[in-house]
Amino acid sequence: MSFFLDNIDAMIPYVPGAQPEPGRRVVKLNQNENPYPPSPRALAALESFNGASLRLYPDPMAPKFTAVASEVLGVPPEQIIVGDGSDDLIIMLARAAAGPGRAIAYGEPTFPYYFTQAQVQGAPVAAIPCDADFTLPLEALAEADAALTFVASPNSPTGAAATTDQLDWLAGKLSGLLAIDEAYADFAAENALPLVDRHDNVVVLRTLSKGYSLAALRLGFAVAGKAIRQGLLKTKAIYNVGPIPAAVGAAAMADQSYHDECVAAIIAERKRLATALIKRRFFVYPSHGNFLLAAVPGGDAPRMVETLKAGGILVRYFNSPLLQDKLRISIGTADDTDALLAAIDAML
Ligand SMILES: Cc1ncc(COP(=O)(O)O)c(C=O)c1O
Repeated sequence: MSFFLDNIDAMIPYVPGAQPEPGRRVVKLNQNENPYPPSPRALAALESFNGASLRLYPDPMAPKFTAVASEVLGVPPEQIIVGDGSDDLIIMLARAAAGPGRAIAYGEPTFPYYFTQAQVQGAPVAAIPCDADFTLPLEALAEADAALTFVASPNSPTGAAATTDQLDWLAGKLSGLLAIDEAYADFAAENALPLVDRHDNVVVLRTLSKGYSLAALRLGFAVAGKAIRQGLLKTKAIYNVGPIPAAVGAAAMADQSYHDECVAAIIAERKRLATALIKRRFFVYPSHGNFLLAAVPGGDAPRMVETLKAGGILVRYFNSPLLQDKLRISIGTADDTDALLAAIDAML
């Protein structure tokens, strides 16, 4: 006897990255967090937040945040729909578009939460393997023509990015929705925002968790045209973004010079870590995100993860055929990189 739907009983739950034991100081490179603190302007907005206003329901559309995001990205405010992190927008999209007989497609490996939501919706899954170098299986995705296709670009855990031209081509081929998950776009050279006006089936997802150092704030948003917006608003929890995330997020996005400085430091450190790992005979995949996917020399990634963990360094391991000899390492500060390299040297 179960209280739940058959598909919920049968589903494989999402497993989040490990949290450090309480009180233990670690070098945390397992969840693609930003190693720098949030913008001082975001922290000032948090401190000066008027607590008495919490008595009132917020505007469900977070208009002050939306106005800032609109200005920074150069998209009309009415194309922005806010979410409790971009996870929330993935849920809203799946609820609106996927279900029995209405598939979710993606290239594998990618962010496992798309699969989680397909299971929740009872939707068929078209998980199409990427090539050995992790390029996106564009033609196979076009052929699958699912009700909802997710492309994370840059992709996690691979770091590979699709070009805007490739995504433009895919959007034109699909009759269903194309959700371009740009959680890591802050660290990439290109983004797909221009496609929103070119294709009425394109929605772009953004988050403040990575580029703005606000993973715990829980704030993301979608950029989409009128038709997609109508569906998303129907599946959105009414007050999914409270006034504190909205105010802090607005201040963070308004501080573009701080954002750009942090992003530049992360990209420089990404290059330094890649060079250092290659020197130590890792195979490092080109990354457009704030992390690197690296194949371990000798292939025993589980042993390396465990040894690093014992020494207080957390990195991410995925036990799947394409990833079992690899680690995903978030880019930290220069000190984090030095600690990681010292631990690897001690092991090798
Ligand atoms: C590709 C991708 N999309 C979305 C998310 C979710 O981000 P958030 O819910 O913090 O906005 C993540 C988190 O790691 C991710 O890797």
